[in-house]
Amino acid sequence: MKKKKKVILAYSGGLDTSCCLVWLKERGYDVVCFSADLGSEFSPAVLRKKAKQSGASKIYIKDLRSEFAKEYILASLKAGAIYQGKYLLNTALGRPLIAKYLVEIAKKEGAGFVSHGCTAKGNDQVRLELVVKTLNPKLKIIAPLREWELTSRESEVEYAKAKKIPIENTKKKIYSIDKNIWGTSIEAGILENLENEPTEDAFIETVSLSKASAKPQYISLEFAKGKPTKLNGKRCNFVKIIERLNKIGGKHCIGRTDLIEDRMVGIKSREVYEAPAAWILRTAHKELESLVLDKETLYFKEIISLKYAQIVYQGLWFSRIKQSLDGFVAKSQTRVSGKITLKLYKGNIIIAKRSSPYSLYKESLATYGKKDTFNRDWAKGFIDIWSMPFIEK
Ligand code: ARG
Repeated sequence: MKKKKKVILAYSGGLDTSCCLVWLKERGYDVVCFSADLGSEFSPAVLRKKAKQSGASKIYIKDLRSEFAKEYILASLKAGAIYQGKYLLNTALGRPLIAKYLVEIAKKEGAGFVSHGCTAKGNDQVRLELVVKTLNPKLKIIAPLREWELTSRESEVEYAKAKKIPIENTKKKIYSIDKNIWGTSIEAGILENLENEPTEDAFIETVSLSKASAKPQYISLEFAKGKPTKLNGKRCNFVKIIERLNKIGGKHCIGRTDLIEDRMVGIKSREVYEAPAAWILRTAHKELESLVLDKETLYFKEIISLKYAQIVYQGLWFSRIKQSLDGFVAKSQTRVSGKITLKLYKGNIIIAKRSSPYSLYKESLATYGKKDTFNRDWAKGFIDIWSMPFIEK
């Protein structure tokens, strides 16, 4: 008998990937599922059962939170990456990691195909496939959602029912949600109409502003060479820091954004994000950089941050440009050590204190008081020379 073609499917257990699984089986593939735990809080036992029920021959479930935090989130935090001012790239950062494992598992399993449940309109298909292609150009990619006849959610539900695919939530799902430790992306449903505000049930981690704690809360974060090392004076691994900050920030309604976003495929889309830990860490990290970096490095870092965000957004994680930017970032971070104290209150992150052994702030130069050491005589000559090139008359 001819050996079946083997495919590794990126599987979440949701409606799309469950239908993909059955669809692939019907086309004669031997389907091996892969589920990455990046902090989406699924139950491995339930997932395993579901995959088996839908006909998977095997499932790999990997807790990748630590690798995600150390290799992907940390690089992005140090780089200061932010897309279109409001998106800290939670979804985008996870995709290259998932793709990397798809390629690894394909090798281990001797599979010639990989598959995913991304739509033809989104960024995730580009990110996953680009990484798969760069890491192993020989692998063939199957994207059922771009090919199959199930063009709406309703038709998928029908298909799932007909094929006895276990789906817990048949009631109308109002949002499409992608969650990991770095944040949650919320899209579709009522958000497609720009007149609608997201309803409170869109959010997982944060309470509403009206339910946010009535008391401000102070927290301190310590960094060593750009890496967060201590929360409130206690040494903590990076994953724990992120998870704790999500809880703390959630109580103060920190880190909600609403963005009209430019996707790679040319569409503008409405995206809502919830990322308490990411915003707290970004704010503290950026504040520390302002204290310890000279102004030229800071100015240039802004450009790097912008470019880095585009690179991550566009799925170019395993690229020369990304590695080259990392080189600049690494050098800039050698001084980014110190402590930032923040006040969290009703959706706001307020800087309370900053300190660093590398601080370039000198009170004796900045003060308007008696202890001023700034040489006033230098100012006039400085302005004369500085203005010279601009005097046209
Ligand atoms: N717009 C964001 C991005 O492209 C979030 C995408 C959310 N993805 C999802 N499969 N729900 O990065």
